[in-house]
Amino acid sequence: MFKQARWRLVAWNTSIVALLLLLIGGAVYGFFSSNLYNGVDRLLLERQQRLVDQMSTVGADAVNEYSFNSQFHEPEYPALITDTSGRTDLSTACLSWMTAFGTTCPADTKTPFSPDAIRAASTQGQDFRTVTRNGEAERVLTFVAPPTLGYPTEVVQIAHSATGEENALSELRRLLLFGGFLGVLFAGACGLFLANKSLVPIREAFERQRQFTADASHELRTPLALIRANAEMLGRSRTLHPEDSVLSDEIIEETDHLNRLVSDLLTLARADTGALQIIAKPVDLRSVVSDVHEDVRLIAQERGISSGVSLNGAVMVAGDEGRLRQLLLILLDNAIKYTDSGGEVNVELSRAENRARLVVEDTGIGIPKADLPHIFDRFYRVDRVREHESGGTGLGLSIAQWIVQAHHGSIRAEETAGGGTKFQVDLPLAPGKSSGGGSETS
Ligand SMILES: Nc1ncnc2c1ncn2[C@@H]1O[C@H](COP(=O)(O)OP(=O)(O)OP(=O)(O)O)[C@@H](O)[C@H]1O
Ligand SMILES: [Mg+2]
Repeated sequence: MFKQARWRLVAWNTSIVALLLLLIGGAVYGFFSSNLYNGVDRLLLERQQRLVDQMSTVGADAVNEYSFNSQFHEPEYPALITDTSGRTDLSTACLSWMTAFGTTCPADTKTPFSPDAIRAASTQGQDFRTVTRNGEAERVLTFVAPPTLGYPTEVVQIAHSATGEENALSELRRLLLFGGFLGVLFAGACGLFLANKSLVPIREAFERQRQFTADASHELRTPLALIRANAEMLGRSRTLHPEDSVLSDEIIEETDHLNRLVSDLLTLARADTGALQIIAKPVDLRSVVSDVHEDVRLIAQERGISSGVSLNGAVMVAGDEGRLRQLLLILLDNAIKYTDSGGEVNVELSRAENRARLVVEDTGIGIPKADLPHIFDRFYRVDRVREHESGGTGLGLSIAQWIVQAHHGSIRAEETAGGGTKFQVDLPLAPGKSSGGGSETS
């Protein structure tokens, strides 16, 4: 339980730190990248201004392929003119307005720097983005040429190398990733250290409480035995008034109930403190099931419940025979207790893959679906009314679960099609001793 709590604390701590680091890293990266690109963007805007000025001062009739490539050309800022659909077969200088002047366009098709940017600029007027051209990072400014220039809607793309900025950013990414990884590792280690430290007092308090329950249950057994013995003596006394003998019977009944409770509490408390160990020996579950069933058959009969058992060969498990008997008794006791007269209780033992499977099924009152996840909790009883009727303590299934877990098995309950209850216990088979025998049913 504490192991689980410790790892949960570590996981929470690490996740929160990881999230924080992610947020901080994202903010730092965003800040640096926008600062870095702001510088290039400024240069591109200046170049845009120059280009627009050049084109307008040269005059519409002088803007031709020659002027665009020679007068307007700046080696650090390659530029390209396309139409709004990204077609560049106009060549860099052959603008469609030239067609109006009777100039034919040479068939010079170029790939736009970024078709996406052209689409974005066509709707927004202007677009900045980083693209990779010929393996190099470039910042591209795309804008719609001002209509005042007399051009039909043309889109201009100007690029500028962003290799330096990209290198700096990829360095920053590496640094942030490495730092983040170290940060998460450190957070995990700190979380583990803090969880261990903070769980110590809780664990100690818990241990003290477990020890107290174990001691108190143990100490209660002697006075309870004494009370029962005295009540029995009193009941047998000849001088006792018949009405008083009912009282002494009640004392005995309640003492028995208390005795069961104390014994169950002691079992669980000792299991919690680790004082109760399972000494595993090869056990033939078939004979355990057959014996226990034989023991409870008469009780079931007395209550008008028919009981059956189905055994499919010897099933050997490594475990504690006494505890396995107790487990079956708990399940059968419940099945009989919560089944009305005329009902049925069946036990089946079989092998499923490499597990021994024990199924106890009844046609009783059933367990509502909402209660199923809780029935193994201590003192949990499904119905307050039934609680009084059957006089149970609500610890039986908690002990059953402990026994199964101590045998490295699993236990689960489900509703049967007929509205009854089915408990299924799976236990690992004893190594190399799992087969043999025939099947029998009764
Ligand atoms: N076969 C069953 N059919 C219907 N309800 C069941 C069955 N087995 C268990 N339950 C429900 O689960 C609850 C818990 O069972 P558990 O055996 O732990 O306690 P209990 O039988 O009430 O008391 P005790 O500790 O004396 O066994 C029961 O109170 C009952 O409501
Ligand atoms: Mg019970």
